[in-house]
Amino acid sequence: MFRRLLLFLTFLLAPKPSYTGPAPYALRISCGARNDVHTPPTNTLWYKDFAYTGGIPANGTRPSFITPPLTTLRYFPLSEGPENCYNINKVPHGHYSVRIFFGLVAEPSFDNEPLFDVSVEGTLVYSLPSGWSNHDDEQAFVEALVFLEDGTASLCFHSTGHGDPAILAIEILQVNDGAYYFGPDYGQGTILRTDRRLSCGAQNPKYGVDYSANHWGGDRFWNSITTFGAGSDRAISTNSNIKHASNPPNFYPEAIYQTALLSTDSQPDLAYTMDVDPNRNYSIWLHFAEIDPSVTGAGQRIFDVLINGDVTFQGIDIVNMTGDINSALVLNKTFAVNGRTLTITIHPTNGGHAIINAIEIFEIIMAEFKTLSDEVGALQTLKGALGLPLRLGWNGDPCVPQQHPWSGADCQFDNTSSKWVIDGLGLDNQGLTGFLPNDISRLGHLQNINLSGNRIHGSIPSSLGTIASLQMLDLSYNFFNGSIPESLGQLTLLRILNLNSNSLSGRVPATLGGKLLHRVSFNFTDNAGLCGIPGLRTCGPHLSPGAKIGIGFGVFVALLFIVTCLTCWWKRQQNILRAQKIAARDAPYAKARTHFSRDVQMTRHHGHENARTATENGPSLLS
Ligand SMILES: *[C@@H]1O[C@H](CO)[C@@H](O)[C@H](O)[C@H]1NC(C)=O
Ligand SMILES: *[C@@H]1O[C@H](CO)[C@@H](O)[C@H](O)[C@H]1NC(C)=O
Ligand SMILES: *[C@@H]1O[C@H](CO)[C@@H](O)[C@H](O)[C@H]1NC(C)=O
Ligand SMILES: *[C@@H]1O[C@H](CO)[C@@H](O)[C@H](O)[C@H]1NC(C)=O
Ligand SMILES: *[C@@H]1O[C@H](CO)[C@@H](O)[C@H](O)[C@H]1NC(C)=O
Ligand SMILES: *[C@@H]1O[C@H](CO)[C@@H](O)[C@H](O)[C@H]1NC(C)=O
Ligand SMILES: *[C@@H]1O[C@H](CO)[C@@H](O)[C@H](O)[C@H]1NC(C)=O
Ligand SMILES: *[C@@H]1O[C@H](CO)[C@@H](O)[C@H](O)[C@H]1NC(C)=O
Repeated sequence: MFRRLLLFLTFLLAPKPSYTGPAPYALRISCGARNDVHTPPTNTLWYKDFAYTGGIPANGTRPSFITPPLTTLRYFPLSEGPENCYNINKVPHGHYSVRIFFGLVAEPSFDNEPLFDVSVEGTLVYSLPSGWSNHDDEQAFVEALVFLEDGTASLCFHSTGHGDPAILAIEILQVNDGAYYFGPDYGQGTILRTDRRLSCGAQNPKYGVDYSANHWGGDRFWNSITTFGAGSDRAISTNSNIKHASNPPNFYPEAIYQTALLSTDSQPDLAYTMDVDPNRNYSIWLHFAEIDPSVTGAGQRIFDVLINGDVTFQGIDIVNMTGDINSALVLNKTFAVNGRTLTITIHPTNGGHAIINAIEIFEIIMAEFKTLSDEVGALQTLKGALGLPLRLGWNGDPCVPQQHPWSGADCQFDNTSSKWVIDGLGLDNQGLTGFLPNDISRLGHLQNINLSGNRIHGSIPSSLGTIASLQMLDLSYNFFNGSIPESLGQLTLLRILNLNSNSLSGRVPATLGGKLLHRVSFNFTDNAGLCGIPGLRTCGPHLSPGAKIGIGFGVFVALLFIVTCLTCWWKRQQNILRAQKIAARDAPYAKARTHFSRDVQMTRHHGHENARTATENGPSLLS
């Protein structure tokens, strides 16, 4: 609770990065840091830690000289749930280079290199490979180009059971909207993960800031490569200015064109081979500038570019195409790789040498469709109301990445909205202690709900009756009290309703009772106060206020009627008595009359019996 409050406060107090004029949006976070940090040599500002969903700050070890010189990190133990995130708000719509640096916890008990998955905006972009922290030249970060359209950036870390994810730093750097346009598939539906970025012939790796590059380029990291294979090539460089290097949309630093690898007489082809994941699409960007002083004009160096043996670019003449020496040429190509290696070959076709200045390789990743935001909101409300234990996580998007859905939430893709929706909640026996909020009805695609075996209290929300698709509702073995909402009777698809072993009371709604005769399997037992269907006790008079008023009125009218009758009867008796008193004066005549009438009645009675006897003997006069 305290931590949550603290987190909330941190959100409020979080520095708002300035976004004015033509400068691109840039946000850097030093994870685990209590104060803002400035790092040498460029005095780069890293905000103190904020926007995380959990985890523990600690001192960190930088696994590589490539990582920024920060000393703290944040790690996420599995006990805090399998997925944890940084959710950064107020990010302007745009195209971003998102970079996440990894670290190692600087404590002796953390001797294992953690392996985990990283997702950006719900799309899995990287799985840390075994050994990532052992090689000084390995990239201890993942970088991806992504369009952020909803004002937030969500970066999540998914445990895979190999140690606790540990994050050193996060960078969210805006780039040109058209940066790395590679063709019609480009846009919101795709994410480009940087696989590698090589400055050929450079002696040292460098970031864009080290080259004083344009900020709209996203402070790219250029690893250095001095040879593709011993003896096959040699590095060259120039101090001359390079024309057209820093053009939009990509604003490359001039320096990457000032070095190059050149093939040798013994080995005229330049070939770069790398390991890749099979069956993926890659976007390949090749950079050239004619900086070899032995070439002075067009037609002197002509080459083909082959990717895995396919001629991809034919008859490239850098000077002809750019119009000059020391002028930048960028070629890009999307390539589907089937095998486990990718080989780029520069093959001279006019007997000269091959040249290349820089290579960029991106994996093209199809962006996941997200979960319907209203349903995500409802699940978050549910998480708080039910007191969901930390270990269940429930951070990030419930359904994506598809490899790491929230446990307890079943997902289905909705064709009409192109979003994921929740069709099942399976949180049985999870030690939940809270209550079920009305908001559950915002999960309008639910078919199954099983919350059996928890300690959920309070009433059953009547809003459940609006989830038309609901087929199974199991709330058994909880502490639900109050009555069963009438609205459950509206659920025409309901097949299973288990409300047994709760503290429910009152009459089972007649609408449900009727349904039960048909297809619905139900269990209402072990609820002391429930009544009204076979198997439960019969209900005492259970009346609505209206009925009570009606009955009260009825009783009043009846009483009034009785009182009136009694009065009438009494009055009549009085009259008779009075009459008798008068008669007593006129006796005996009146008395004789009374006796006479009694005699007549008796005779009639007798006459009947005689008549029956008479019928047996023939027609009777009396019948
Ligand atoms: C991190 O290291 C500093 C000294 O460099 C120490 O004072 C601090 O307690 C450490 N923090 C943790 C969480 O171990
Ligand atoms: C990349 O190549 C495609 C053609 O394959 C081209 O349309 C596009 O403009 C190129 N991108 C850039 C940024 O030059
Ligand atoms: C690669 O691209 C092709 C054509 O755009 C597409 O059909 C295929 O699904 C993509 N493969 C992957 C793994 O993304
Ligand atoms: C480039 O080559 C074409 C023929 O392939 C030629 O017509 C053109 O003049 C050349 N351009 C330059 C600048 O040399
Ligand atoms: C959704 O669309 C896919 C392909 O477009 C189709 O195969 C599937 O049957 C559809 N599902 C529903 C529920 O309409
Ligand atoms: C709900 O979960 C409980 C406990 O896991 C299980 O026994 C029960 O069968 C489930 N209910 C339904 C209707 O499947
Ligand atoms: C249900 O239980 C809560 C306490 O958990 C109590 O406040 C409430 O009055 C009860 N409702 C009914 C209808 O008994
Ligand atoms: C109904 O619930 C009771 C107690 O909660 C249980 O003992 C019984 O087995 C259940 N009946 C069925 C048919 O599941």
